[in-house]
Amino acid sequence: MKQAFLTFKELPFQLKHAGFCLFPEMSRIGIIRLLVISVLLISANSYGQKFNGLALTPPMGWNSWNKIACDVNDKILREAADAMVSSGMKDAGYTYIVVDDCWHGKRDSLGFIHEDPERFPSGIKATIDYIHAKGLKFGIYSCAGNTTCAGRPASRGHEYQDALQYAKWGVDYLKYDWCDTEGLSAVGAYTTMRDALSAAGRPVVFSLCEWGTYKPWLWAKDIGHLWRTTGDIAAKFDSNVDHGSWTSWGVLSILDMQEGLRQYAGPDHWNDPDMMEVGNGMTVNQDRVHMSMWCMLAAPLMAGNDIANMSDETKEILTNKDVIAVDQDVLGIQGFKFAAKDSVETWFKPLAGGDWAVCFLNRSKKPVEVSFDWVATRVYDDLAKRDLNAGETEYSLFNIWTKAVDGTTKKALKAMVPGHDVLMYRLKKI
Ligand code: GLA
Repeated sequence: MKQAFLTFKELPFQLKHAGFCLFPEMSRIGIIRLLVISVLLISANSYGQKFNGLALTPPMGWNSWNKIACDVNDKILREAADAMVSSGMKDAGYTYIVVDDCWHGKRDSLGFIHEDPERFPSGIKATIDYIHAKGLKFGIYSCAGNTTCAGRPASRGHEYQDALQYAKWGVDYLKYDWCDTEGLSAVGAYTTMRDALSAAGRPVVFSLCEWGTYKPWLWAKDIGHLWRTTGDIAAKFDSNVDHGSWTSWGVLSILDMQEGLRQYAGPDHWNDPDMMEVGNGMTVNQDRVHMSMWCMLAAPLMAGNDIANMSDETKEILTNKDVIAVDQDVLGIQGFKFAAKDSVETWFKPLAGGDWAVCFLNRSKKPVEVSFDWVATRVYDDLAKRDLNAGETEYSLFNIWTKAVDGTTKKALKAMVPGHDVLMYRLKKI
């Protein structure tokens, strides 16, 4: 009977015969060596990978920067963790408590970074343990340069040590900024940190924050799980804030800057239009626009307000499970602007199970009547290859903000959208 597999003796001959063997006289020992080297090379290579599968839907959490800026400490982070649970945010899907800039103390004589002992009197590990005990995850902030944007010690030249320290503390998420980086290549610096995290061995969501400067959507898919697409957000709706040497951007400006980027996003690699300003001073309508559009964009949802002391309206916006379901949809397809006429934009986002989200955004202060004939209008998503085709498929119109079912797609829509507000539906296949 013919053997189904090769004996070891036959291997060199077979390889040679098949034309694979570069060294015809290679002995069995030689082949074993070759195999061992290949295995070592393959496993060494897997060190240089991001932790796959940690952000299959856009990450959700809270970050200290937008409201607290540099004033972070142990108490504030514990209060944020408490509030995330008691407000219902945790149940709604928010997971990460992220400390942004200014937690840092000094490096020790060996070069390891430590927390600021005054802000974290029991050590930052105790804060992190507290957050973990609440069933939440912890994120930290550093920067690829010599110093962070607020002038604290950053990771340049200390990447592997910092990654080890974070792993020791139990860090689950790293936001990595881009200040003070003269002479550095963005691809190189972010790859180095990815490799350092990978070598440290603790799974970490890696959030790139180089403000879209070097178009990370073109190169960061295998480096990080999300990348900022713009400069910093401001708690403004249709204006920007001029800081002299730089500008922070209002919600509509940031929205406009997402044009042309949707093809780069998907499960485990998201465009990040920055952390949210919901609850930080815009009107309730404007906050609703902000939340709705971030969800249409499949954006990471990082609340940036004082969640321990927020109003009921803010809480309702942040915890609306139906709008969050649009953001967290498993297909991970970023929505697209279908039409823009006068002050109204119409956005669509294909969802799992044949559903769609649609959002009519009124950019002006004045109420506007919108009309949409579902059957007569062809809505086709060229990227996802999905056809709404309301002529053949009937959908019910579930209003994501009022929870009413406003009829079906059989009948053309006519409705008022208040100034600076949205009308947002989930079209559910009947
Ligand atoms: C940069 C980032 C912000 C924030 C600050 C902290 O501006 O873009 O999100 O992290 O630094 O200093």
